[in-house]
Amino acid sequence: MSDFSITVNGKTVPVIKGQTVLQASLAAGIDIPVFCWHPQLVPVGACRICLVEIEKFPKLQVACATPATDGMVVHTESPKVVKARQGVLEFILAHHPLDCPTCDKGGECDLQNITFKYGLDYSRLEEPKHRFIVDADSTFDDYRIGPEIIRNQNRCIHCYRCTRITDEVCFEDDLGAYQRGYHTEILPPPGREIRNLYSGNVVEYCPVGALTNTDWRYKVRVWLTKQANVVCSLCPDGCNLTLWSFHNKLFRATAHPNEKIDRGFICDVGRYGYQYVQSSDRLKTPMIKKGGQLVEASWEEALDFIKRHVSEHKTKLSGSGFFGLIGPTSSNEEVYSFQRFLRRVIGTNNIDHRLNRKRRLSLTTEINGKSIAPDVGTYDDLDQADTYVVYASDLHTENPITALRLKRGIRHRDARLITINARPTHLAVRTGAIQLMHKPGAGVLALLGLINGLLGQPGLDQASMGISDAAIAEFRKQHAALGLDKIAANAGLKPEDLEAAIAALAKSETTVILTGSDFGRYPFRDEELAALHDLRRVCKSAKLLVMPTDSNSVGAEWLGALPDRLPGKLGMDGKTKFEDLWRGPISDSVGKDTLAILDAINEDEIECGFVFNSDPARSFADGVYAKEVLEKLKTLIVIDSFMTDTARLADVLLPRTSFAEFEGTRTNWEGRVQYSQGAIKPTFQAKPGCEIIELLADALGNSFDQPHEADVYAEMRKILSNLPERFAQFTADGCLLRAESQIERAGLVPVEYHPVPADSEYPYYLAIENADHHRGTLTERSESLMRFANEPYVGISEGEAKALGISEGDLIKVESRTGKVVVKVRVIAGLPDKMVLVPENFDELKPNLLTGLKEKFDLVKIAEM
Ligand code: SF4
Ligand code: SF4
Ligand code: FES
Repeated sequence: MSDFSITVNGKTVPVIKGQTVLQASLAAGIDIPVFCWHPQLVPVGACRICLVEIEKFPKLQVACATPATDGMVVHTESPKVVKARQGVLEFILAHHPLDCPTCDKGGECDLQNITFKYGLDYSRLEEPKHRFIVDADSTFDDYRIGPEIIRNQNRCIHCYRCTRITDEVCFEDDLGAYQRGYHTEILPPPGREIRNLYSGNVVEYCPVGALTNTDWRYKVRVWLTKQANVVCSLCPDGCNLTLWSFHNKLFRATAHPNEKIDRGFICDVGRYGYQYVQSSDRLKTPMIKKGGQLVEASWEEALDFIKRHVSEHKTKLSGSGFFGLIGPTSSNEEVYSFQRFLRRVIGTNNIDHRLNRKRRLSLTTEINGKSIAPDVGTYDDLDQADTYVVYASDLHTENPITALRLKRGIRHRDARLITINARPTHLAVRTGAIQLMHKPGAGVLALLGLINGLLGQPGLDQASMGISDAAIAEFRKQHAALGLDKIAANAGLKPEDLEAAIAALAKSETTVILTGSDFGRYPFRDEELAALHDLRRVCKSAKLLVMPTDSNSVGAEWLGALPDRLPGKLGMDGKTKFEDLWRGPISDSVGKDTLAILDAINEDEIECGFVFNSDPARSFADGVYAKEVLEKLKTLIVIDSFMTDTARLADVLLPRTSFAEFEGTRTNWEGRVQYSQGAIKPTFQAKPGCEIIELLADALGNSFDQPHEADVYAEMRKILSNLPERFAQFTADGCLLRAESQIERAGLVPVEYHPVPADSEYPYYLAIENADHHRGTLTERSESLMRFANEPYVGISEGEAKALGISEGDLIKVESRTGKVVVKVRVIAGLPDKMVLVPENFDELKPNLLTGLKEKFDLVKIAEM
């Protein structure tokens, strides 16, 4: 749909109101060179390379910053334009080192390409070129400005894309332009480095080789590489990446812009995380436990071992004596074939993918007979909201690209952000959000404060939202004792913050409430969900999005990695469909979830299990218990890429390929299924997950004859019929999975608040975070990410450090009723007193040694070593 048209080089070009000459021309397939312009940045007209001739304009105009108006006649390649571009290039190249043969941007450099097209083949400059010299011995003038980024100021063309991306898109402040004219330097502020979570984007979008990263530089020339488009498997945002390989080795990951999702920006975790694929500790061969030691074996030996042991268990036990746990970073095809194998071949529904530190597993709940469920949503919902509420999450580290959408709303649409957390979050601090920082465990109280404040607000017609006066009266009666001041005092909130948040929500036409990783760690998760539900109900046009914890958690739910749900989220009463498909009977009894599986192993009811691409000993809420219980199994079969804590307990270990070595689909938090190519061939003796599961089924006498992902996908389509017929038919938009029926929305649900009781022996509240530049445990194997993430730490407040006489870097012992760890202290500004913050990503510091399911709250004590 266009609003009017212009003429560009004699061609009629449709224009949507607000588009610039450049945007309209590019959309019509007419190329205009650019350096400083980027589709996600506000145009600044800094480089002048996009000059065009517009009839009736006295001078040439920059296409990137000139709004298109009805009837404009534009020439983009006239002699006047070409001469002007030659002038611009001559000016830029006057002091440029022209060191293309040794520059890592060579082959993909905008300056090189545009100079080939428009540049002169001589220079009129007679004076020596201006040179930035870092030190007398420097050959290339390379200057490290961050853990990964090297700057060569001599190559810089002053387009300021890098500083604008840092500020405008990412809301960060660790890169700026200093000095003026020829002396302008791109640098972090004095005494700092560029180390924000999105820092790699400035390298990718620098149009020349002024910014390069240690990941890629001097390793391979770009024209020698092969490219594959993949979906990032490191968080549920589902960004699209290009993986660049040479001789079956990966050399870098860059953004593969997807307008629906990442819009061309990825986080450093996705950019550098791929390095784990080439980590030296990948499992190289199958292994069998002999004399208490895992020793290398052939695939035949390993499969024979499994056949003998599983058959033995099967003659003794029914399917209920088995289990299967699959990690939620596995592909949709792996999940589908794994659960099919367990249900049809092994005969058990004891299947789960929920292995994280949450105390409660389910997302939906029922309180007082009323069903409560989160909404489904997309990135488009974030683009339309004028208020965001982020509860129990630092979206910045958990969903970095989702966080960028919020920032875009704040920057370009004046959207408001309210954060509700027990600790300061990077997102809140960087965006100037209204922060409701409450006492540990008082999140529900903060939500109640908002609900109470919003009920009866002028302009909020709750009756039209389906909330009766009686329901409001009842709710008020239940929470009569909770006046705003009282709530603020009990929750540890500033009353003015609570009032500001209520005022923002009362004005909001469209609100999105997002919650993340800390949701569910507080033991009264049902109450939290009920309060979030009520907040959604009292806001005008609001959605509640519970962000999943892992990259394919949503796919795992849809493809049947649940004890009570078959693929397509069908209940067990839908089993006939699958019996037809799988040519044989399956059990219709509801299986056990992760918690119940571990308890059943403990009670000797389960003797044998399969753990696929997951490490419950490290990721389950109670690590000590999980390990003790898994050790009791008679036969444990682990399929993974690395020697994990769980893999060490295995009787048989089968090496699985990494995400880059097989094709398949993944489902992001929106429920969007996307296709991911294989970038390199399987390394060592590792095999893709679907092939391994097929080998297992075959060994146990029930082959599905579907060894390839495409075969499994074809069968998945029989359940999820809106998926495209073949991988090749996936478009950039992917395919959204949607539940057929929405769970009915309840009115207002009564909410009870349970404070964390004071504990004089264990006086500190344990908070767990996803460390900066980290995601799960795989990223520990990325050299680049470890340059940012450094080493494990325990965070305490400045006040606490002072009171205890502890300094940054001192070793302390953190002890709970379950276990203890000894680790270095990091003093964190803004962290509340009586809180201990532990990252969840370091092998040397496993928070699940401190958390235990027997304890209701995560409380610890600390002592200096
Ligand atoms: S470093 Fe690169 S992106 Fe930054 S101003 Fe210079 S040329 Fe532009
Ligand atoms: S935001 Fe998530 S999906 Fe996107 S690149 Fe980062 S880790 Fe990968
Ligand atoms: S791209 Fe238009 S002025 Fe730089």
